[in-house]
Amino acid sequence: MKSSALGLALLLALVSQLTAHKSEDLIYGYECRSGLCRKVELSEENFAQAISLPVCRLFCGSQIGTLWPQPTGAVRLDTLMRQVDISFIDINVNATVRKEKLWRAAEERWMEMLEAKIPDRKILARGGYRMSVNINTPDDLALAKLTLETDESYNLEIDTDASGHVLANITARNFFGARNGLETLAQLIVYDDIRREVQVTANVSISDAPVYKWRGLLLDTSRNYYSVKSIKRTLDGMALVKLNTFHWHITDSHSFPLEVRKRPELLKLGAYSPRQVYTRRDVAEVVEYGRVRGIRVMPEFDAPAHVGEGWQHKNMTACFNAQPWKDFCVEPPCGQLDPTVNEMYDVLEDIYETMFEKFDPDVFHMGGDEVSTNCWNSSRTIRKWMKKQGWGLATADFMRLWGHFQNEALARVDKVANNSQTPIILWTSGLTEEPFIDENLNPERYIIQIWTTGVDPKIKKILERGYKIIVSNYDALYFDCGGAGWVTDGNNWCSPYIGWQKVYDNNLKTIAGDYEHHVLGAEAAIWSEQIDEHTLDNRFWPRASAMAERLWSNPSTGWKQAESRLLLHRERLVENGLGAEAVQPQWCLQNENECPIDAYDAQA
Ligand SMILES: *[C@@H]1O[C@H](CO)[C@@H](O)[C@H](O)[C@H]1NC(C)=O
Ligand SMILES: *[C@@H]1O[C@H](CO)[C@@H](O)[C@H](O)[C@H]1NC(C)=O
Ligand SMILES: *[C@@H]1O[C@H](CO)[C@@H](O)[C@H](O)[C@H]1NC(C)=O
Ligand SMILES: *[C@@H]1O[C@H](CO)[C@@H](O)[C@H](O)[C@H]1NC(C)=O
Ligand SMILES: *[C@@H]1O[C@H](CO)[C@@H](O)[C@H](O)[C@H]1NC(C)=O
Ligand SMILES: *[C@@H]1O[C@H](CO)[C@@H](O)[C@H](O)[C@H]1NC(C)=O
Repeated sequence: MKSSALGLALLLALVSQLTAHKSEDLIYGYECRSGLCRKVELSEENFAQAISLPVCRLFCGSQIGTLWPQPTGAVRLDTLMRQVDISFIDINVNATVRKEKLWRAAEERWMEMLEAKIPDRKILARGGYRMSVNINTPDDLALAKLTLETDESYNLEIDTDASGHVLANITARNFFGARNGLETLAQLIVYDDIRREVQVTANVSISDAPVYKWRGLLLDTSRNYYSVKSIKRTLDGMALVKLNTFHWHITDSHSFPLEVRKRPELLKLGAYSPRQVYTRRDVAEVVEYGRVRGIRVMPEFDAPAHVGEGWQHKNMTACFNAQPWKDFCVEPPCGQLDPTVNEMYDVLEDIYETMFEKFDPDVFHMGGDEVSTNCWNSSRTIRKWMKKQGWGLATADFMRLWGHFQNEALARVDKVANNSQTPIILWTSGLTEEPFIDENLNPERYIIQIWTTGVDPKIKKILERGYKIIVSNYDALYFDCGGAGWVTDGNNWCSPYIGWQKVYDNNLKTIAGDYEHHVLGAEAAIWSEQIDEHTLDNRFWPRASAMAERLWSNPSTGWKQAESRLLLHRERLVENGLGAEAVQPQWCLQNENECPIDAYDAQA
């Protein structure tokens, strides 16, 4: 809505249909002036028409209200609020009985989200209109799994009937689109602290679809352990901003917390403690929790480097915990699989089997990060094996050894996946550079995850070969950057801390240039050397939300235009149980556009 005088009058008139209950302790309400919400002192005269901050911000100065991420299609939010009784909301789903469990869980969570809007979950003024949510989606079970083909779009229409009841219609191609519609609807339901009641934006039309199909967060649960509870909380946050991929970097050289059915010793030797584990039941629970929230939970088994704990006594690794570590790896403890031991591939197969059984991944991550030639070269048995093949010991020979590993490992993936040709992701590394990339990695099969800087010329070399990519450029999307060093004094390797503004402005088009159509999306990463579940939330949030809007909406505008909306969105994260970092003093939330050094043009 444009903030014309007429618009403002209309807003006041419509909002004032709601009855205000006088309150002793409320001093301020809001009004919309020149496209900005301004605090106004409440008096006897203006009390009845006073507007709460969330309602003011829905209509004042912005076409998209307070939605995060902003929709990509047409948005119409007319100035009409209705009090709703959240104990009288019914959701009608057009889907099969067999899908009921999924839908029930999604509905339950949605209702929880509405309850969470009410301070202390105690409502003073129950009552209001009934609301019906109708969800129209095809009855197709095959569509209940998120894949690269899933259409996540939705349409949302809200209107009132003659008796004032609120009707919301969500139309989507599948559960995932419909779930996104529910998420948007939840953001249009607010708590008015002047009237102490829940209100819904009652005349709305939105069509929406994501720009990028891969919108992910990576969590490393090996350097430090995270409880299932904290992982679920992360999935809750992701659902709020329509992120759809949880990349679970489960194991590394530091610990092996995953239960592998046929190889229980990996867990027994590799977990930090008997409590710090992910049983197969835990995994199934996380995967289903994600699905209900529109999220694929994708496992990574990083190899051949980044292994160690759990593999003791197997005689299948090289340089495990070798010292001085910096000669053999990038951080302690070192460890790499020995590609020359045939039995090692049987163990891999059993790990993959558990992963395919429990995660049912549509895309699988095989790691491939940071292999050290020195590590392999320190093993006499490896050197002997290479000589036997007639190879030398030059770098190119070790790359050949790596290629051998990758092919053998992939054959085991294909075996457990019944040759379903599951797309495979690998990190950028020596193997993704020429000539090795052409010799070893088929662009039809491999997706490359970029973790170099966003301006690295290597990115173009990968793209022009036809590979699809996922972007995790560390200069914008490594959320563990910043803070003390842990193997030295000073600051950690990728310092400084990356502000949300940089995350928001990390444009994949700029990174990929002419090859933008090869970009599946991006992931923000938390590597856990210096983070665990106690400090997880403020590292991810609200920066993960900044990335979520970049990936869902890819707005042509930058962080400045998003700032005031982000402040409000951050409150939403906190309301939903996430310990999101504060971005500015609360005063800035209440006094829009008074904090930026360069105030923005609210009329633009
Ligand atoms: C949804 O249900 C209605 C009847 O309740 C039916 O007419 C319609 O075909 C269904 N839509 C889909 C897409 O299955
Ligand atoms: C919702 O869908 C129903 C049935 O298709 C229709 O009668 C109603 O007008 C729709 N309401 C809105 C707000 O789109
Ligand atoms: C909702 O908006 C539409 C289009 O602006 C308008 O025709 C309709 O009268 C509005 N409904 C209500 C109840 O205000
Ligand atoms: C480990 O493997 C090497 C080479 O295959 C062999 O010489 C050695 O005896 C093995 N050690 C154990 C403990 O199995
Ligand atoms: C591997 O070690 C041998 C000595 O054992 C050395 O000659 C060779 O240069 C090393 N290879 C690499 C790639 O460092
Ligand atoms: C592969 O096929 C077997 C036997 O039919 C089945 O039990 C298993 O679930 C399948 N695995 C995958 C990943 O599809």
